[in-house]
Amino acid sequence: MRQSCSDVILVTAVFVLGSVSGLAAQDQTERVAGSGQELFQTRCAVCHTIGGGRLVGPDLEGVDERRSEEWIIAFVQHSQQMVAAGDPDAVAIFEQYSQIMMPDQALYDEEIRGIIEYIRTAEPTAPVQPVALGEPTEEQILLGQQLFQGRARFANGGPTCNSCHEVTHEAVLGGGLLARDLTAVHSRLGAPGVKAILGSPPFPLMQRAYQDKPLTDEEVIALAGFLQQADAEQALHQPRDYGRNLLFAGVVGTVILLGLYASFWSGRLKGSVNQSIYDRQVKST
Ligand code: HEC
Ligand code: HEC
Repeated sequence: MRQSCSDVILVTAVFVLGSVSGLAAQDQTERVAGSGQELFQTRCAVCHTIGGGRLVGPDLEGVDERRSEEWIIAFVQHSQQMVAAGDPDAVAIFEQYSQIMMPDQALYDEEIRGIIEYIRTAEPTAPVQPVALGEPTEEQILLGQQLFQGRARFANGGPTCNSCHEVTHEAVLGGGLLARDLTAVHSRLGAPGVKAILGSPPFPLMQRAYQDKPLTDEEVIALAGFLQQADAEQALHQPRDYGRNLLFAGVVGTVILLGLYASFWSGRLKGSVNQSIYDRQVKST
């Protein structure tokens, strides 16, 4: 309980901070645009290198020669919309990366121009080896599940995931709605994408929540394993869960309606209707 209380406070603080700096960002577009390097490091580098080879996403060296500036800006802001609209380049790269999505980045056009400028001029990154990933073990999945909902604490004291996110899983009840539902995130981003995000979140709000309280490697692997399992299970159980939810909603709805009817009618039943009719009848005879 203490844990979830402090989570709520922390998350609220992060949110307030987020909106304040969001407001500030609006009149500081010029200044922010200057820090393409910083933006690249905090928002892109977990998944992309510049000349270091493929990581989660493609090597971005020379991307400004392959694609137009408008295309890159649009892709960074909403790549899936472009794929859905049938943009041939977006579809091709999406297919080439086994349909792993790049999460939309809430960045201004100016900021993305700054990043492109940085990519154009940056020293190439040292070659990287994409991490080899084994299948998660039962223990790792269980630990991930406990960490996700705060049954186990993070070694560095970060907030629980379900203070912001929800996931559909038999053993997890409810969750936050501040950020995306993570049930299908494994299919969306793949294990390397999920692990990259957990190791160094490229989203300002989540970044701030774990800034001084990073997840350990063990925790990242456990959480990624749990999310992988939740995704697989959900795909398997979808029709059944749906039916159960419907039944549950039906029962709850009926109880609420009955309760409403009861309180609605109780007033009328009290002063017996029959009595007043009887009285009237008696008077008129
Ligand atoms: C969580 C991982 C992740 C993050 C963070 C990320 N990307 Fe990507 N990016 C990908 C993946 C995966 C692809 C390729 C598949 C797809 O999304 O369609 C991609 C593709 C791209 C492409 C298309 C490359 C080409 O050759 O056409 C560009 C441009 C790009 N990303 C830029 C960025 C920039 C700029 C940022 C930071 C603001 C960023 N990405 C952050 C994963 C990521
Ligand atoms: C302070 C709130 C907050 C907390 C706590 C938090 N996140 Fe996030 N997370 C976000 C936000 C905001 C995003 C950006 C995408 C969105 O709008 O949902 C995000 C995105 C993600 C994504 C990428 C989703 C996608 O489909 O693009 C993953 C994966 C993720 N979080 C996992 C986790 C895990 C695991 C934890 C627990 C260790 C966690 N998050 C804790 C706020 C949070």
